[in-house]
Amino acid sequence: MRRPIIAGNWKMNKTPSETIKLISELKPLVAGANAQVVVCPTSVCLFAAKGAAEGSNIAIGAQNVFFEDAGAYTGEISCDSLLELGVEFVIIGHSERRQYFAETDETVNKKVLKALQKGLKPIICVGEHLKEKEHGITNEIVRMQTKLALEGVLANDIENIVIAYEPVWAIGTGLTATSQEANNTIREIRKAVGELYGEKAEDIRIQYGGSMNAGNASELMGMSDIDGGLIGGASLKAADFAKVVNY
Ligand code: PGA
Repeated sequence: MRRPIIAGNWKMNKTPSETIKLISELKPLVAGANAQVVVCPTSVCLFAAKGAAEGSNIAIGAQNVFFEDAGAYTGEISCDSLLELGVEFVIIGHSERRQYFAETDETVNKKVLKALQKGLKPIICVGEHLKEKEHGITNEIVRMQTKLALEGVLANDIENIVIAYEPVWAIGTGLTATSQEANNTIREIRKAVGELYGEKAEDIRIQYGGSMNAGNASELMGMSDIDGGLIGGASLKAADFAKVVNY
């Protein structure tokens, strides 16, 4: 059985003091959750987040990491620093990073390999643009992104990976894939993982992301292959995020 995982992607929102406030509000609201709960603040808020989440069931994730250990890479973030701050998960290859920060399938793969080598759990984002959906090539896009992201990943590491299927046209737009569409695409992603790792593909958790909120979470989470959610906008208010977590 795959344990559901609901992660909040705060993007470039919340200062350190706001981070402490939001996590403090969230703690009692999600304390009884069945799902694994993760929040992903900006990197400069991770220290505050870890302190605020102390003693709770809220795990901390980062939104990015670099694929080298250390060195002359101004502005980048190392796995070792994240680990020292108590970070467990890291979002890799979010469509906003692909769009605005030149992230490619190749850099996504390098980051995945480095994160796994260091003991961080990647949340790998894949998803099609609107034009690709209109051309009917959603499956081709997510299959390609998935296989390229997993290049060189050992079978033993598959259980440490989460994939987030996020149709780019659904992010921050209020539009969502129908639960059936999302489930079908996620099944296709699992099939692609299966072509590489056989029955290990049954262990990998695959989230849906893209305007997931309190109103649609239970329907999405009720689908056979959807193992969780990556939540943007609706993760920024404790009550809203708690409703998704307790779908
Ligand atoms: P959204 O963002 O929930 O605001 O659509 C999801 C994401 O980008 O991870």
